[in-house]
Amino acid sequence: MPVHQQSEKIILTHSTGASAEVYFYGSTLTSWKVAGKERIFLSDKAILDGSKAIRGGIPLVFPVFGKGKAPHVTASLPQHGFARVTRWKLVNSSEDATTVTVQLGLDHSMITEEFRNLWPFDFSLVYTVSLTADNIETGLRVHNIGDRAFDFNTLLHTYFLIPDASAVKVVGLNGVDYVDKVLQTSSKQKGDVVIRGEVDSVYANVNTLKLEIQYDPSGKGIQVQKNGLGDIVVWNPWTEKASGMADFGDEEFHKMICVEAGQVAEFIALAAGDAWEGSQILSLL
Ligand code: BG6
Repeated sequence: MPVHQQSEKIILTHSTGASAEVYFYGSTLTSWKVAGKERIFLSDKAILDGSKAIRGGIPLVFPVFGKGKAPHVTASLPQHGFARVTRWKLVNSSEDATTVTVQLGLDHSMITEEFRNLWPFDFSLVYTVSLTADNIETGLRVHNIGDRAFDFNTLLHTYFLIPDASAVKVVGLNGVDYVDKVLQTSSKQKGDVVIRGEVDSVYANVNTLKLEIQYDPSGKGIQVQKNGLGDIVVWNPWTEKASGMADFGDEEFHKMICVEAGQVAEFIALAAGDAWEGSQILSLL
């Protein structure tokens, strides 16, 4: 069966053997297997019972990136917003000769009263996951179904499972302006991004549509093709930050890198009735 629904998650299986899993909680994709291997990092300590955002996979950041700042209306929302800590529902599933697709939905009637009071807008989100033999597309559609404009950030906060963070290179960000959240500086990227310690960088207006996460000098790895998503966040907590996270193993930073495509440098203003879409396609290099 290409789409198998369990109480907590949906499993997509492609006839070629590729597969994916998406939790209803946060609509968090926690697994993508292709060519016989897992490609997505999920912490051994991830909490999967819906009491905390899932540590790993692709948590969905919406409607704010990080902590909102007063006087913006997102100021009191939890870090990275409410979408990753709310249960979504399955709205559609389909398959054709090449692709297995599921769509999950979330709207204002499904969030807690507390979130609703903090962010009082009528919205509808549809998250589409499409699995083919050799790639996976994850895309978000944000629809303002109310009668006034709202601002939002969003991010496909993708944790990649990699052999060795010290050997990885992110290619495609050369020359892009970025904010280094660790050093609290603004700089221009020179060459490829490498990980030699804690990294938490926000690259704004990235023109390159295809980024590469090269595992090592062999050039093997993952391609991230982004559509309608301007910004990229690169994150690895390294030692100290890792040991401070209860749901992340002390040594797990060696085998993950977050390369997160989204719109976070500035808020997107969505007028009443308007819709916005962005997606990424992951494939092997
Ligand atoms: C990244 C942010 O996107 O997410 C980091 O840039 C943050 O600053 C990281 O630490 C993880 O966030 P959280 O809330 O899942 O611990």
